[in-house]
Amino acid sequence: MIYSKIIGVGHYVPDNIITNQYLESIMDTTDAWITERTGIKERRYFTYGKDTNASMATEAAQIAIERAGITPQDIDFIVYATITPDYYFPGPGFVLQRNLGIQNVGVLDIRDQCSGFVYAIATADQFIRSGMYKNILVIGAEVQSTFLNHSTEGRGVAVIFGDGAGAAVLQATTDKNHRILSTHLHADGNFAEDLYVKDPGSTREKRFFDDLIADKSTGEVIMNGNMVFKHAIVRFPEVIKEALTANQLTPQDIDLLVPHQANLRISEYVRQQMGLPEEKVMNNIQKYGNTTAASIPIALSEAWESGRVKDGNLICLAAFGSGFTWGSALIRW
Ligand code: UT7
Repeated sequence: MIYSKIIGVGHYVPDNIITNQYLESIMDTTDAWITERTGIKERRYFTYGKDTNASMATEAAQIAIERAGITPQDIDFIVYATITPDYYFPGPGFVLQRNLGIQNVGVLDIRDQCSGFVYAIATADQFIRSGMYKNILVIGAEVQSTFLNHSTEGRGVAVIFGDGAGAAVLQATTDKNHRILSTHLHADGNFAEDLYVKDPGSTREKRFFDDLIADKSTGEVIMNGNMVFKHAIVRFPEVIKEALTANQLTPQDIDLLVPHQANLRISEYVRQQMGLPEEKVMNNIQKYGNTTAASIPIALSEAWESGRVKDGNLICLAAFGSGFTWGSALIRW
């Protein structure tokens, strides 16, 4: 039987630190409000001319590949999750592939927002289990800062999001004791417009550029924050329990939960619902904000670096986001 296992993780965050105090200086908000409602103290923004979505992914990928003990030439497929590609098309996977010097290797872009990395892991896992590929590079990367409205009007969204990239290398294995145990994906399109960016979409009668001049807000993130929150705190525990049940395991078996970093209050609520102690939940939203598809691989990579992900540990990745989408991946490390 072929399974997949994660053999290397890496991340890159831009060096431009945006503190809550800086946001206080450009919009009507306070460090106290942001900290109390989200747990975020600072986030990173890309530096124009230095970072792009694909360049950050390249940095993260190079670290993950090196830690995996392989070379870019060993990668035989790329799965890339993002909602903020360098170009509207083609996706950033092509740029990453070029940067890594591995032309001819297939590239698949995943658009599942905050659940993108879990969807990407699930996709890569299936390609490996089918025997089609042996070493798959999985990316979650975002440049969101330029989609945000930094005036007071946009404060409910702008203070939350940040930029960054994370990567993982999945490899084929027959070792039942070190592998991805299962993945679980869900979506509910009834809430498509509760967290979305309308343009550049194809719902218009004519070129959206003409309309954009009149209404710039259609290029910004529109979020019904309360609705997202309400669903997130139900779907996170649900999809974590689904993964545990599928593997005849219980919350007590989890060594580390790595949730999508949406909001510290959401992660804390999920932790309590699952009956997990604080040290078993990875939180780094305080430093990076919500980096959408990048948040789980960045958190996983930081957890690994700090020794919180050890051989034989049961690691649970879980996500919820726009779509709505949600999902989990249970890993015996
Ligand atoms: O990955 C998925 C991505 N999205 C999420 O996870 C979002 C989930 N939702 C949330 O995290 C929360 O809903 C938010 C953090 C976005 C908002 O927190 P909230 O406690 O739901 O606040 P609210 O939207 O109900 O707004 C409460 C008040 C409002 O003022 P009034 O009407 O009570 O006077 C807002 O205008 O807070 C005000 N407000 C702000 N004040 C200062 C909204 N944003 C800000 C801000 N600074 N940045």
